[in-house]
Amino acid sequence: MDDRNPVVELALRRGFVMPSSEIYGGLAGFYDYGPVGTLMKNKLISLWRHHCIRKEGYVEIDGANILREEVLKASGHVKSFTDPLTRCSKCKNSFRADHLVEEATGQRVEGLDANQLTKKLEKVKCPNCGGKLSKVELFHTMFDVRAGTSEGTRAYLRPETAQSIFINFPRLFSVTREKLPLGVGQVGRAFRNEISPRNFLIRMREFTQMEIEIFLSPDQLDSHPNWNEIKDVKLRLVKQDGKEVETTPEEMVRQKIAPNQYLAYWVGKAWLFYSALGIPRKNMRMKHLPKDETPFYSKSNFDLEVKTSFGWKEALGTAYRTDHDLSEHAKLSGKKMEAMFENGKIIPHVIEPSWGVDRPFYMILEAAYRPKTKEKDWEWLQLPPVIAPYISAVFPLMRKDGQPEKALEVTKNLLEKGFDVFYDKTGSIGKRYARADEIGTPFCITIDYDTAKDNTVTLRHRDTGKQDRVKIEELPKLLGEALNFELNA
Ligand code: GLY
Repeated sequence: MDDRNPVVELALRRGFVMPSSEIYGGLAGFYDYGPVGTLMKNKLISLWRHHCIRKEGYVEIDGANILREEVLKASGHVKSFTDPLTRCSKCKNSFRADHLVEEATGQRVEGLDANQLTKKLEKVKCPNCGGKLSKVELFHTMFDVRAGTSEGTRAYLRPETAQSIFINFPRLFSVTREKLPLGVGQVGRAFRNEISPRNFLIRMREFTQMEIEIFLSPDQLDSHPNWNEIKDVKLRLVKQDGKEVETTPEEMVRQKIAPNQYLAYWVGKAWLFYSALGIPRKNMRMKHLPKDETPFYSKSNFDLEVKTSFGWKEALGTAYRTDHDLSEHAKLSGKKMEAMFENGKIIPHVIEPSWGVDRPFYMILEAAYRPKTKEKDWEWLQLPPVIAPYISAVFPLMRKDGQPEKALEVTKNLLEKGFDVFYDKTGSIGKRYARADEIGTPFCITIDYDTAKDNTVTLRHRDTGKQDRVKIEELPKLLGEALNFELNA
């Protein structure tokens, strides 16, 4: 547990997340979201749904978590979804061999096979006890399950939500009236039996993805209808040779760094989305994966990486999956995975913006974290209002003279208008401000003696501590304005 990290400590203390199975000693790589974490996670998902599904004219499905073995055979996961494993002969701990070599030597070792990694490990000792490390073997990272009694049907917990979309393509194409491009998104759980889950929410064994598979004819790859909204987004790109450049989606297409406009569009949109959610530009880079790091199903991949207290970590990826998945499912299932396009049958190509939820969730928390200062004697989160668990707290200044009743009435009215607000009457007003700030609440509304006279309240701003006197009927407009969220290049 990384609980000396103040962001992790705050997230645990305030119930953003909770270690799963904790009362029995915990289970590495599994976390439960607590009350405020669930609110914030759902807001992140709603924003994605609005900007990446609804505004693009796409649809969404909700697939099963368990998939037949054949699905993952066709996709290539049964063969290729492995990580290199080494064990310590003394303390018996298991490690990702590539991570150990990278940490010990600083060398990049993607693409090396088990024998080559074993050679590189010769001079490396167990980081726990200094013991000798074993030969490297390939460890399968899918969780296998059996569906049904006795022998059952061989199946796996899905390692990516994407496959639930691919296997449903014929029905999806038909129920959406047979038009390409067809974008199908999904928010759901994916499972990977990581050898060494670590870094809090960054490397988990069960996690949430929000993925989109955009099916289209190869003829459509260079004409995204919303291209003008994204083509000029300025972003920092790490090229395949490791050099960093400032560029735009338009430049990436012009210089043939991106294979097509659709992929470049999603690279730009991901950049815009996460900078709008408070991740500083200097802490973001878009990495064009070199061939040996590109996933087996992808022809071209761009990962958004964010600098965190655990180092630079992947937040999400955008892949050009070509017709790989549909073609392989067609071969193994014997079913047609085709679409009619301009008088002919084609197997559509796929662009995949694959966004995680948990990693960006943590990255947004880290970017928002503010330590104690002279001005503010408590830690707080400067979360963008649109993603903060609550937009406002509502307090009675005193627990008498009708103030609690009035505060409860204001709370109820704002809740009825759809605002996430909470009521708090416990402790001094300073303590209540601190508690609200700590979970990133942008405003605190206080009912006091003047409220009964003129129907006004104080509206305190989290970031500045400034307080305005406002009429109760103005609150919905003020809170509504603060929740405005736009993606502008
Ligand atoms: N669907 C891509 C991934 O899970 O990484």
